[in-house]
Amino acid sequence: MSFCVRVNASKQYDVIIRRGLLNECGRELTKLGARGKICLVTDDTVDALYSARAAASFASSGFETVKFVIPHGERSKSAEMLIALLRFLAENDFTGSDTVAALGGGVTGDLSGLAASLYRRGVRLVQMPTTLLAAVDSSVGGKTAIDIPEGKNLVGSFYQPSLVLCDVDAFSTLPETVFSEGCAEMIKYGVIYDAELFSLLSDKAYVPSEEAVARCVSIKRDVVEKDERDLGLRRILNFGHTVGHAIELLSDYTVSHGNAVAAGMAVVTKASVKSGFCPEECYTSLIKLLELYGLPTGTKHSAEELKTGILRDKKRFGDTISFIVPEKIGSCREMKLPTDKIEEFVAKGL
Ligand code: NAD
Ligand code: GLY
Repeated sequence: MSFCVRVNASKQYDVIIRRGLLNECGRELTKLGARGKICLVTDDTVDALYSARAAASFASSGFETVKFVIPHGERSKSAEMLIALLRFLAENDFTGSDTVAALGGGVTGDLSGLAASLYRRGVRLVQMPTTLLAAVDSSVGGKTAIDIPEGKNLVGSFYQPSLVLCDVDAFSTLPETVFSEGCAEMIKYGVIYDAELFSLLSDKAYVPSEEAVARCVSIKRDVVEKDERDLGLRRILNFGHTVGHAIELLSDYTVSHGNAVAAGMAVVTKASVKSGFCPEECYTSLIKLLELYGLPTGTKHSAEELKTGILRDKKRFGDTISFIVPEKIGSCREMKLPTDKIEEFVAKGL
C-alpha cells in the first residue's frame, strides 16, 4: 500500500510511505525538478544496510552522489559534526541547487536538517527515515537540532524538508529496542490526540504497517500546520519530553530518546492522576501499553535530580516550565508550572 500525506506548512511537501521506496528515491526526487548533486548523510550502521540502494537509485536518475557518514548515536548531534558536514558540502562545491538527503534515524535527520538550513542559508532537504521514530516523528515538521554540553537540542532551526520518503521495509532490520522506541512516540500520539490509535496499538502487528505510520504522520501534519513554530498547540507533541529530556541528559545520553520519552510519559501521567488532572484508568492503560512494547515505565532518578535536568531544557520560559498533561486517553493540555513547583509535581509521578 502507498500513502501520501501532504504537509502545508511554510513549505508544501509530501510524505510518501511505501515499501521499496529506497529503490525509487531518485525518481521521486526528479519529480520535484531537482537536478545536480546529492549529499547522502547517513550513520555507519545504516550506511552498511541501505546507502548502496539509495545511491544506485539516485545515480540511475542522473544525480551525482557524495556520502557523509557519521558514527551512529546521539553524540553525532554535535557542533563539531555540524561544522564537519558544512565543510564537506563546501569542499564538494555544493550550490543552492543541490540537495542534502538524510538517510537514517532522528540523529541523522536532525543534524542533516540543521546543516541544510544553514548551508548557503538553505539548500533542498530530503528526509529518508529508516527508524520507526524518525518515520512517525522527527522526519516531519521541520525541527532540526544539535546538542551542546549544556543541553539537548539547544541549537536548532525550523526548516521543512522538500520531501519525505519512508520505506517501511527498512524497519525489518531495526533492533527490537530501537523499534520499540518508535512505538513510544506512536503511543504518545494515541494519548494526546487519537484514542482509536491508542486502542489499535494494542495489536503489535498493526504498528509497522504503512497505514499506522501514515496515521501518525497525519496527526503530526495536523498539529504542525496549525502551529509550525511551536508557539502553542505543537507543544502537545512534547508529552513525556520535559521529563524525558531530563532523563536523557542525566544519563549522559546512555538512555535513548524513545526510552526516556516512555519513562517521561509514565511519570507525568502518574503525577497527573495524583493531581486530579486525569482518571486512574489513563495511567493503568498507558502502563499496560508501554509494558507490551518492553518500554520503561519509570526512572531511577529522584525528583530533585529530574528538576535539575528539566531546568536546562528548552521548554523553559522564564520562571515556568511547560508540561503536557493528559486529560483522558486521546486528549491533553499544556500546563505551565512555576519552576519552584517542579519537584513537588514530578515527585508525585515517581
Ligand atoms: P538514531 O538516529 O540514533 O537511530 C537509532 C539507532 O538505530 C542507531 O544506532 C542507528 O544506526 C540505527 N538504525 C537506524 N535505522 C536502522 C535500520 N533501518 N536498521 C538497523 N539499524 C538502524 O535515533 P532515533 O531513535 O531514530 O532518533 C532519536 C533522535 O531523534 C534524538 O536525537 C531525538 O532528539 C530526535 N528527535 C527529533 C525530533 C524532531 O522533531 N526533529 C522528534 C523526535 C526525536
Ligand atoms: N517532536 C516534537 C515536535 O516535532 O514538535
